[in-house]
Amino acid sequence: MASRDNDQPSQTLAKPTLNETQASVLVESLFGLKVFRIEPLPSYNGQNFLVFISTTETQPDDQRLPDFVLKINTAVSNDIPVLFDVISHVSIFLQAAGFPTASLCLSKKNNIISVINLDHGSVTKSHLVRLLTYLPGRPAAEVPITPQLLFEMGRVAAQMDQKLEDFQHAQLSALHRENFVWNLKYVPLLERYLGALSLSDNREVIGHIIQQYREEVVTKFSQFRECINHGDLNDYNILVEPRKLASGESVYQVSGILDFGDMSYGYYVFEVAILIMYMMLESKNPIQVGGYILAGFESIVPLTYVERSALYLLVCGRFCQSLIIGAYSTHVHSHNSDFLVINTRQSWKNLQRMLDLGQNAVEEVWFETVKSYKAGKNSQ
Ligand SMILES: Nc1ncnc2c1ncn2[C@@H]1O[C@H](COP(=O)(O)OP(=O)(O)O)[C@@H](O)[C@H]1O
Ligand SMILES: [Mg+2]
Repeated sequence: MASRDNDQPSQTLAKPTLNETQASVLVESLFGLKVFRIEPLPSYNGQNFLVFISTTETQPDDQRLPDFVLKINTAVSNDIPVLFDVISHVSIFLQAAGFPTASLCLSKKNNIISVINLDHGSVTKSHLVRLLTYLPGRPAAEVPITPQLLFEMGRVAAQMDQKLEDFQHAQLSALHRENFVWNLKYVPLLERYLGALSLSDNREVIGHIIQQYREEVVTKFSQFRECINHGDLNDYNILVEPRKLASGESVYQVSGILDFGDMSYGYYVFEVAILIMYMMLESKNPIQVGGYILAGFESIVPLTYVERSALYLLVCGRFCQSLIIGAYSTHVHSHNSDFLVINTRQSWKNLQRMLDLGQNAVEEVWFETVKSYKAGKNSQ
C-alpha cells in the first residue's frame, strides 16, 4: 500500500507504533489466539507482524512457518474503514476463486476488521486491525527474475483483473478513488509537485513526459477497457516460491499477491504498465521485461491497438509517479530510506533508457516478444 490521501502524494505521518508485546496482546484479546512468537515486518505506512500461534504440536522452531500476518493501519480519514472493508473482501473473494491471496480471520466479535483506539500522547487515534492468513514464499525482489516468471506474473495479473469483473460489494463505488495520486488516470495532477524534484533538468524531463501523457494518453482513456486494478503489483507485493518441473528444473512461481490498499477503478492496460515498471527495476535487461509480461498478460486479455499504443507512455507515467511521490515524501517528511534511494536511482536509470531508445524501438522489442510467444516459439 503506498499512500492513503487521495490528492496528496504523501501519507499523513500516522504510523502506529506498537511493540511486539502490545501486538501480541492485541492478537490474544481481539482474536482469542495464544501467541507463541511475534516478529515485526516492514511496512510503508502501517505496521505488520508475523504471528506464530501456540500449538500442542512439537515442531522444531526453526522449521515453523508463521500462521498469520497482523496488519495495523491508522484510519487517516473517514472513508478508510469502508475502503478497507472492500479491499479485504476482494482478497477473500480472490482466494475463494483460487488466487494466492490471503484470507482474513474473524475476530471474537465476528469482524474481519477491528477498530481500536490508541493514545498517541495528546491525541487518540483510531486504528484498523486485521489478521491475514500467512502466504508462503519470498518477495519477487529477492529472487532472479526470469522470462518464465515475468510471463506468469503478467498472466496472473490479467486473470485477476478479469475475475474482479464478478466481484460484488455494496460499497464498490469506494474504489472510484477520484484524484488518487497512484492511479494512472491522475498523472497530470503530479505537475504541481514537480518542485520536489531536485535537479532542474530532471524536472524538465518529467514535465515533458507529463505534457505528452496529457495529450496522448489521457485523450485515449475513453477507448480503454475499464476494470478494477490491484494498482501496486510491485516486487514486494508479489511472493514467489520454487516449483520443480517434470524435467527436474526448478522455477519460481507466484505464491502470493499482497497489499490491495491501492486498488481502484482503472483500465486493464494500467495493470500491465504498473507491473512492467516495477519489474524493470529488478532486471538486468529492463527493456525486455515488458515483452515477457505483456505476453503473459495477452495470453489471457489481449490488449487492443489503442491500449497497446499507450503502453509506452503509461510505463513512463508510472516512473514519473514513483519519482515525484518519492521525492515529495523525502522533501516533506524527510522519509529517506535506503530502499527509496535505491529505488529512485534505478527508476531514473530505467526511465532514461526508455527515453533514449524511444517509443518505436521499445515497442518493437515488446511486441516482437509477444509475437514469438503467440507463434509458440516460447512454450509456457
Ligand atoms: N499474508 C501475508 N503472507 C506473507 N507475507 C506477508 C503477508 N502480508 C504481508 N506480508 C509481508 O509483509 C510485507 C509488507 O506487507 P504489505 O501487505 O505489502 O504491506 P504494506 O502496505 O506495508 O506494503 C510484504 O512485502 C510481505 O513480505
Ligand atoms: Mg506492500
